[in-house]
Amino acid sequence: MRKKAILITGAAGEIGHALIEALSKNGKTPLLTLDLEPLPEDVRGLTTHWEADILDQKLLDRLVSEYEFDAIYHLAALLSTRGEFSPGITHQVNVNGTMGLLRLAAEQSEWRQKPVQFIFPSSIAVYGLPDLETKTQYARVREWEWNYPRTMYGANKLYCELLGIYFSEYYRQLAAEQPVMVDFRAVRFPGLISAFTIPSGGTSDYGPEMLHAAAKGEPYACFVRPDVRIPFMAMPDAIKALLNLAAAPAEAICQRVYNVTSFSLSAEEFKGWVLKFFPDAEITHAPDLKRQAIVDSWAADMDDSAARRDWGWQPDYDAQRAFEEYLVPNITKRYQ
Ligand code: SER
Repeated sequence: MRKKAILITGAAGEIGHALIEALSKNGKTPLLTLDLEPLPEDVRGLTTHWEADILDQKLLDRLVSEYEFDAIYHLAALLSTRGEFSPGITHQVNVNGTMGLLRLAAEQSEWRQKPVQFIFPSSIAVYGLPDLETKTQYARVREWEWNYPRTMYGANKLYCELLGIYFSEYYRQLAAEQPVMVDFRAVRFPGLISAFTIPSGGTSDYGPEMLHAAAKGEPYACFVRPDVRIPFMAMPDAIKALLNLAAAPAEAICQRVYNVTSFSLSAEEFKGWVLKFFPDAEITHAPDLKRQAIVDSWAADMDDSAARRDWGWQPDYDAQRAFEEYLVPNITKRYQ
């Protein structure tokens, strides 16, 4: 007998940490987590963890033979800044890694005659606005607008959304009998901010880096101009979005890829919130023109009305509540 489980890849990353806590609290199905790295100590007891590479075909074969997955949260990815330094390996991890897991999900869906749910965090990085004038004009982009990513990571996320749709709607479309398909669902996240982890390798990282530096009493030079604007979201809302999307009844889901967002801030406004709580913080701007150009190509805000309409998406944290009730108290405790 194969053991039932929920699989989380990239589990040692920022989202993984919070998702393990939430899923182990909520559900009865045991968790199996994968990452190249060990898990942070505080979540180790909550899951069976394999330190393994999702590109290892033998590993995927072993997973299929030992487990039956109700759901796969596929979080493993190399982010937008890191991806530009090694586009080849980034493509392998982000695309081939996703393809391997989608095939695994397809095989299991057929075998057990019930869809495996495949939950995929996509990103604001799938958007690519050509210039600041257009960014101002299309202030709240809808899912199908400006899908012209400029980074390897953004291109990979956009393509993997399409792969997910393919495996859910068209896989083996010429076969005599249609197989049971994967149930792929994706959210496009804005820049995420966690009180407990610092992101690495992303291009929205200036927000969380500014805040964590202030809490540590360290000076911070922000790598984008003060007027650069993108949306952000506090980590508890990101987890809420993943869990609510997973819980939505299939008939409510009218599309497989949804924008979700909470609040949009310029770097200047972000700094204002940080200074409100850490008035002595030393924050300057030293734009890195190349990383800044990536953020400039991302939307200033995202239209998440489809998610609100179809599965009742609503963030719990606006900027005020995110800083006041989640970020500042937890970060302060962390560095005490
Ligand atoms: N936070 C990500 C990055 O900066 C965007 O999804 O790459």
